[in-house]
Amino acid sequence: MKPSAPEHIASIIPYPPGKPIEELEREYGISGSIKLASNENPLGPSPRAVEAIQAAMSKLNRYPDGSGFYLRKKLAEKYSIPFDGIMLGNGSNELIELIVRAFMTPGGEVIMPEPSFLLYSLVVRWMGGKPVPVPLKTNLGIDLEKMAEAVTPRTKVIFLTNPNNPTGTVITKIDFDAFLSSVPPDLIIVLDEAYIDFNRNPDTPSGFDYIGTQGPSVVALRTFSKAYGLAGLRIGYGTMDPDIAGFLNRVRQPFNTGSLAQAAALAALDDEEFLRKTRQTIWSGLEYLYGEIEKMGLKYFPSEANFFLIEIPCMAKDLFEAMLRRGVIIRSMASYGMERFIRINAGIAGENERFIRTLSRVLPELDGTAPDRGALKP
Ligand SMILES: Cc1ncc(COP(=O)(O)O)c(C=O)c1O
Repeated sequence: MKPSAPEHIASIIPYPPGKPIEELEREYGISGSIKLASNENPLGPSPRAVEAIQAAMSKLNRYPDGSGFYLRKKLAEKYSIPFDGIMLGNGSNELIELIVRAFMTPGGEVIMPEPSFLLYSLVVRWMGGKPVPVPLKTNLGIDLEKMAEAVTPRTKVIFLTNPNNPTGTVITKIDFDAFLSSVPPDLIIVLDEAYIDFNRNPDTPSGFDYIGTQGPSVVALRTFSKAYGLAGLRIGYGTMDPDIAGFLNRVRQPFNTGSLAQAAALAALDDEEFLRKTRQTIWSGLEYLYGEIEKMGLKYFPSEANFFLIEIPCMAKDLFEAMLRRGVIIRSMASYGMERFIRINAGIAGENERFIRTLSRVLPELDGTAPDRGALKP
């Protein structure tokens, strides 16, 4: 008899990995495709980060600095946060996992918005916990009141995504503060700020401001994957009370972030010019795309992230296929239970124009009479 994983593992549907672009191009017999599906930086990596990687390569025979000393020191100085309250991760993804691993108990519950980042519920299930999804409000905002109502004595962690993925909506500081005072102080509140660098709403909270405050412990998660263009390196960080960091330190791998990733992130923090250019590209890209989508008579949802949702008159998986055949890779929202929505990130100008051109060609060819299953629930 073959070994079998326990039921809470065997019942998991694995995270659907996308195929490499080169493989998709080979399968579909196309070349020169563009990808607007994964909220990546369309300008490439920060040039200063690339230089730092080149300089650090000669030391690859050594293990990385397991404490991430220089990167944490730089973050502490730049953002005036305590050095001991900064944890590095193999992408902010790893910090999501470490938080749940450190604080989960058998049968423990973790509350999250739905739809939101798919990884939260997956990680909770890995650890034998129970994900408690709370649907968004009809305006697609996170329903903080319903999330507070979902708290039980078994609740350990609450995930909030600000701006949210896939909707791009933000929580305001007033609402966040009211939420914090309405939930028990022994909870961990994760403010996942993967897209905060693109936010233009001045009324949003910064997770950095909640270290050492009264009430529930706020852990802010940030990443170098998006605004700094380092998704392939896998490096992110969390800021939190130092005692919370102490727990996460107990459950992490000793060398969880590589030396090239640390060196690149350190250099990227000084690359103000790249950050400025990235934001400008994303913001002007979004404005252009909103305008063109509106001209096509489609509904879109304005976003504070580098991506946004578009409601379409056909099934998203069909549109995904048709666009892919023409070399434009977008994200179908079907796996989020949103069968008539797609999500795209803003690209550089030529990519945005190609997306619009291709969409206007493809949409009329697709069946617009598919049943309306545009519900935001699975
Ligand atoms: C909401 C959210 N959080 C975290 C991440 C993970 O980022 P990282 O690349 O730092 O692991 C993503 C990536 O897409 C995301 O959308």
